[in-house]
Amino acid sequence: MSELIKFKIDGTECMAESGTYIVEAARQNGIYIPTLCNMPGVKPKGACRICTVRINGRLMTSCTTPVTMGMEIESNTEQINELRKSIVELLFVSGNHFCPACEKSGNCELQALGYYYQMMVPRFPYDFPQKGVDASSPYIIKDQNRCIMCKRCIKAIRDDQGRPLFAFRNRGNHLEVVLDEDLGKQMTPELAEAAMNACPVGSILVKEKGFVQPIGQRKFDHKPIGSDVAV
Ligand code: SF4
Ligand code: FES
Repeated sequence: MSELIKFKIDGTECMAESGTYIVEAARQNGIYIPTLCNMPGVKPKGACRICTVRINGRLMTSCTTPVTMGMEIESNTEQINELRKSIVELLFVSGNHFCPACEKSGNCELQALGYYYQMMVPRFPYDFPQKGVDASSPYIIKDQNRCIMCKRCIKAIRDDQGRPLFAFRNRGNHLEVVLDEDLGKQMTPELAEAAMNACPVGSILVKEKGFVQPIGQRKFDHKPIGSDVAV
């Protein structure tokens, strides 16, 4: 076991094992820091920036930064919450997210963060991008309109040799995450289910499984995002 170290989040004394990523160390101390691209058990890459905190005056992603002895972390400040809310708004306007028509509504982490930060209407203009829906797999629908490029599916869904079934395609404005043409053929019903659960939004949906869990009984319908962190 690594040594226990002390640090502070927003002035609150905390303890965690040395080397624990801040976001996880915060959780262990009953403090919620929002995440989107981060996923337990998968090496963090810091793609979405929603977990940004300030350490010694510098903005850093808390999912990729380990705690160190005596670290003083600012998280729940007006400026940082404003930054996080802006990221949520930018993700909404850069895709086509129509929550009432999405199977992931109520289980969607982006939607839940919209509620968490009391987003009404995004302050940025909508892009209304022209994006496709790929239903060629026998098991999943990949809706590019909702993909937030978090890479969770790429990191988490792999074949038995550890090769990712999802991959990036194209570049720049045309960059998208797709089911890999060759490795994607190894998709199974179990992996399809895991991919849907790995996706924080409704970009990966299992075919023929619409609205099995009724609206009103979904993860964030009664418990706001982050509420399971409070001790
Ligand atoms: S499909 Fe879902 S999990 Fe994969 S990159 Fe897009 S938003 Fe993330
Ligand atoms: S959750 Fe930390 S960068 Fe996405």
